[in-house]
Amino acid sequence: MFIVVGVTGGIAAYKTVHLVRLLVTAGHEVHVIPTEDALRFVGLTTWEAISRHPVTTSVHEDVAEVRHVALGRRADLVIVAPATAHTLASMAAGLASDLLGTTLLATSAPVVVAPAMHSGMWAHPATRANVATLRSRGVHVVGPDDGALTGGDSGPGRMSEPETIVAAALAVVPARSDLTGLEVAVSAGGTREPIDPVRFVGNRSSGRQGAALAAAAADRGADVTLVAAHVDDGVLAEVSRHPRVRIRRAGTVDELAAAMAEVAGVADVVVMAAAVSDYRAAEVSERKLSKEDAGGDEVTLRLVRTPDIVAGLADRRRPGQTVVAFAAETEADPDALVDRALRKAARKGVDLLVANRVGWTAGFGSSENAVVIVSGAGDVLARAEGGKREVADSVWDAVLSARLQR
Ligand code: C5P
Repeated sequence: MFIVVGVTGGIAAYKTVHLVRLLVTAGHEVHVIPTEDALRFVGLTTWEAISRHPVTTSVHEDVAEVRHVALGRRADLVIVAPATAHTLASMAAGLASDLLGTTLLATSAPVVVAPAMHSGMWAHPATRANVATLRSRGVHVVGPDDGALTGGDSGPGRMSEPETIVAAALAVVPARSDLTGLEVAVSAGGTREPIDPVRFVGNRSSGRQGAALAAAAADRGADVTLVAAHVDDGVLAEVSRHPRVRIRRAGTVDELAAAMAEVAGVADVVVMAAAVSDYRAAEVSERKLSKEDAGGDEVTLRLVRTPDIVAGLADRRRPGQTVVAFAAETEADPDALVDRALRKAARKGVDLLVANRVGWTAGFGSSENAVVIVSGAGDVLARAEGGKREVADSVWDAVLSARLQR
């Protein structure tokens, strides 16, 4: 999802750093809009680093992009946390004195506010009236919690915990259910092929894109089996909370091939997002290889090809089943990348192939992605970029339209 987080001038702003992090880790594309006052509590650099997007408070920057309305128009959800008494009053009055104000007026997305202020201010008739006005316009109010306040007092006024705000905010976005009834198998992460008991041939895939695909499909109603090959623990913990996602683990190419063959037997859609080792050690040593064994300054490791799992799945696909491959390429030229993608899709016999550029920093491990989706029949179907969750939704959109066109 494309989520705007407005931050206003309260001490609770430091908790919003964690809130933004929770959303980014879950694969959402997050744009932070602090007010000038908020920057007295947490600086611009922190917001840019944590959201991984440029941050500004002013309507006079990036004017050509019509930024004062663009973020609000694109947003699927707007969260204001903390929302001070002043902010609630501005929102109730419809003030557009800064970028957050214009964004809130321009958006048609659900708006969630998490108030934070002294209990006396929260209880004041002016604030009560403002909150009532906002509620009557459909704004969702989370908290505030009761407890110790800055300054030693206690009472209602503490901003709710970031986890509570995130859960409440995500729950207000109308759910799509266009994958309901579909059984989906997704592989994620990267395989490791042993060389000896402690070493392996592997890759840097974190499993984020695969996990985002699984979570997006489940949110849209599908029943999902995620076959995880060395997916980062945090990523796996996040997706495993989803009631419609089952997790199976696989370590090597052979384990992944066996698990995928089994789940593909009942799946309507199979997505191979895992980075699979193309080669494995010709011989696996039973004991740890040592420098003495090598007997010199050079050592040669003989590698042999592994089977192409996705090509095999495409070959044996059930009637009506859609098979999707991924391709991580270091090709910098966009046209050449598309050419490679089209050739690869045809060679593997898949219905769709999602190609993205990877490098020393891009792609693997990051929370953002930019992809081009092509068909096995030779068409460029879509391009998508943004958070891995957004990219995942674009992949499912392409899967649905491919299934409709059959
Ligand atoms: O040929 P390349 O490795 O770029 O293809 C990537 C796609 O093929 C991914 O979907 C990956 O999961 C799949 N693949 C596979 N078995 C292999 C190698 C890659 O299924 N041995």
